[in-house]
Amino acid sequence: MQTVTQLDPLRRTVSLLRADGPVALVPTMGALHGGHLALVREATRRSAHVVVSIFVNPRQFGANEDLDRYPRQLATDSALLKEEGVSLLWAPDAAVMYPPGFATTVSLGGVSAGMCGAARPGHFDGVATVVCKLFNQVGPDLALFGEKDWQQLSVIRRMARDLDLILPRAEAIIGVPTVREADGLALSSRNAFLTPELRRSAAALPRAIQAAIAAMRSGAPIEPAMASLIADLISAGFTGVDYAEVRDADTLVPLTELSKSAARLLVAARIGTTRLIDNMAV
Ligand code: PAF
Repeated sequence: MQTVTQLDPLRRTVSLLRADGPVALVPTMGALHGGHLALVREATRRSAHVVVSIFVNPRQFGANEDLDRYPRQLATDSALLKEEGVSLLWAPDAAVMYPPGFATTVSLGGVSAGMCGAARPGHFDGVATVVCKLFNQVGPDLALFGEKDWQQLSVIRRMARDLDLILPRAEAIIGVPTVREADGLALSSRNAFLTPELRRSAAALPRAIQAAIAAMRSGAPIEPAMASLIADLISAGFTGVDYAEVRDADTLVPLTELSKSAARLLVAARIGTTRLIDNMAV
């Protein structure tokens, strides 16, 4: 595996790799766990070469968020990616990604409104800007993202369609199902911030989501199902719920009742000083 930190060698190397067939990009912020490795494995199945980017993107963190404490472990991550057979690690620093004078922001309406877009103002502008740059820098044939960040996946798909990004089709952006611990908690770099006691309580999140989905499938209306989901989380030790919503799975339009089109239940909740997100198909 080659590691590059500058744009010229990145482009030279990717054009050599492309001679063998399709190149897949897996964008990450490092602190890799089983969820990221699932993306890499799916990318390996679908392409001749996998490029992974590691960049902790300051533009997607708000002023009071956890940019400083976000785990950074490039040597460990690099060893894991090498074992997975990744061809190229793209690891620019902030000065390469955002050189002096950088003044462009990619900002979306629609799918970025509400939920994490409301709870974390500016977050999706930061995500869209860096992912747009990563697509332009690497020029992948396909790119893979985790379904755990469902709203992020929708934002990226929308952006790729709207800006005719070099990926050949919107379907070239692949969502990979969430990887979970044995007790159901979705893998996340932020789980590392949980004490053993909070970690045990955190498993209430997927349980509460499943219970709400079961209630709605048995005919409970959305609103009371969300109210009891929130009550379940608070009684399990969560300190607050940013949102618990049912939305159309594709357009992310908020739903007040279930219809035939696919729906998704999405939740963000706080436990200790950590904010966890999760979502499931209804
Ligand atoms: O999901 C993430 O790790 C990040 O939001 C991403 C897509 C790598 C952009 O920084």
